Amino acid sequence: MRTPYVAGNWKMNLDRRAARDLAVAVREHAVSGVDVGLFPAMVHLDEVTRATAGSHVKVGGQNCSDEQEGAFTGEVSARMLKDIGATVALIGHSERRHVYGESDEFIARKVRKALEDGLEVMLCVGETIEERRDGRTEAVCKAQLISGLEGIDAAALARVSVAYEPVWAIGTGETASPEQAGAVHSYLRGVLSGAFGEDHAAAMRILYGGSVKPTNAAELMAVPDIDGALVGGASLRPELFLPIIDAAS
Ligand code: 13P
Repeated sequence: MRTPYVAGNWKMNLDRRAARDLAVAVREHAVSGVDVGLFPAMVHLDEVTRATAGSHVKVGGQNCSDEQEGAFTGEVSARMLKDIGATVALIGHSERRHVYGESDEFIARKVRKALEDGLEVMLCVGETIEERRDGRTEAVCKAQLISGLEGIDAAALARVSVAYEPVWAIGTGETASPEQAGAVHSYLRGVLSGAFGEDHAAAMRILYGGSVKPTNAAELMAVPDIDGALVGGASLRPELFLPIIDAAS
């Protein structure tokens, strides 16, 4: 069975002290049988990896370069992430796709680079409200998933998890219902099964993200194909995030 996975995407929030305090609160809240991840801002990664060293908490970058090193101003490489103790890269978040115009192809290169350099990857996919209204949810999510995992072999796939984050549910307070989310999750698992085989698809975790709160986390994660949550706003407050971890256990 898949171990539930709850991760906090802190986005461009907090200062160094607040990041450390939040990391410590999460570290001290060990719940057996749940994987927990944190994605702080790049400048807080060092603080957070130190605060969680030796604990069950995984720490990752919210982004990672598709390049190895060199003249790429403003970028952070997978090796740099690894070097400071991060083990995961969050790739293809909708804010990267829609605010910064990252293409499927660019995202696929980042996924390959992160895996090649030994990181785990959390690959985000999700449709906009217009795409949903046009009946294109499945097609959009499938295209993002297949393209994001292009060229990945089955062994590396064991280090990948997927986050389904409908864009219309991110930061809006509007959550996909368990039925809406569950339908996309089982569809995506079918896509993975077609691409990589049933066993690999069955082993992969697909998290839901988009306005997850303590009040809706349990019913979402009770859906068989929803293996955890990628949490934005609520992950910034221990009194909201810790109960979401509990709901996954
Ligand atoms: P919210 O939980 O704030 O909707 O954000 C979800 C998200 O984008 C996590 O990556």
